[in-house]
Amino acid sequence: MTKRVISVLGATGAQGGGVVRALLKQDDWQVRAVTRNAGSKAALKLAELGCDVAEADLNAPATLFEALQGSYGLFAVTNFWDRATRMGEFEQGRNLVRAAKEADIEHFIWSTLPDYQALSGGKCTVPHFTSKARVDNEVKTAGFRHHTFVEAPFYFQNFLTIHAPRKTPDGRELWRYPADKDKCRFPCGDINELGKIVAAALNQPEKSGDGQHLALASDYVYWQDLVDILNAQGHRLEYERVSAEVYDSFFSSAKEFRNMMSFWEENHYFGPRGDEKIALANALVAEGFTRFEDWASLHMRPS
Ligand SMILES: NC(=O)c1ccc[n+]([C@@H]2O[C@H](COP(=O)([O-])OP(=O)(O)OC[C@H]3O[C@@H](n4cnc5c(N)ncnc54)[C@H](OP(=O)(O)O)[C@@H]3O)[C@@H](O)[C@H]2O)c1
Repeated sequence: MTKRVISVLGATGAQGGGVVRALLKQDDWQVRAVTRNAGSKAALKLAELGCDVAEADLNAPATLFEALQGSYGLFAVTNFWDRATRMGEFEQGRNLVRAAKEADIEHFIWSTLPDYQALSGGKCTVPHFTSKARVDNEVKTAGFRHHTFVEAPFYFQNFLTIHAPRKTPDGRELWRYPADKDKCRFPCGDINELGKIVAAALNQPEKSGDGQHLALASDYVYWQDLVDILNAQGHRLEYERVSAEVYDSFFSSAKEFRNMMSFWEENHYFGPRGDEKIALANALVAEGFTRFEDWASLHMRPS
């Protein structure tokens, strides 16, 4: 039987990488990894694992059609934070939708997030959420046979990188945020496992392919819950609430992150139907997802 081709944007990255690995575990799909550089170490590794590799650049719309041609499905993610991004995330997404339509993609899966700007009545400006949400309508109205929205939580992997606790000279660890640790609540998950949701959506388009939103959240926690879990595993972690002014001095996009956390103090991370989005993903992925406690015991051992 000829396998149907699924093209995966961002295949060398966190979200797309998880999608590639989940699809390779199944016999039904031929995975086409889309990258800007087929000769990169990460792309060569994907070829070794059995992917076809195609080159395309979201900043060069003309390259997209050729890379997608002949695919049944597409997992589409954009990287708001990529320094090489010359085009806005909305423009990238819109171009991708057009190229996918031209290439006759049957199932379009868009990695999106809610529009915090609109949901907060303009109070919380968080462009990396809003610019993804603005693409949703392009996806909805393009006329794909199936389309599905997937939503990523706060990655566990952030705790190893940009949100790793800071070591203090006396051996403690510190998280310093402007949010109230008992009020700021958010979903988190192992981002590799977004792939399980995408694979389930492709396998069950009758349950997911009519514009359903599927959200990954193995845990929905307050900062204090995370501190308690890690301290029970031997960490000496403390949470210090800092002022907006202090936090904004930490890094260049701090204000955007502060707005995001302030949204989480009052609202569901995934928006008004957030619990429904999580429940739908959980219903489609029978094996479930790795809990923070288990992930941390493997990846965040106290030093
Ligand atoms: N961190 C979080 O907690 C979190 C939560 C929710 C959503 N997000 C969103 O996740 C997105 C990033 O996804 P990720 O974490 O999977 O990224 P990542 O691990 O940093 O990888 C970025 C991927 O994007 C590809 N890429 C970048 N620019 C491209 C372009 N111009 N054309 C084609 N491909 C391009 C790269 O491919 P090549 O280099 O191989 O071309 C790479 O595979 C961001 O938009 C962010 O807002 C993050």
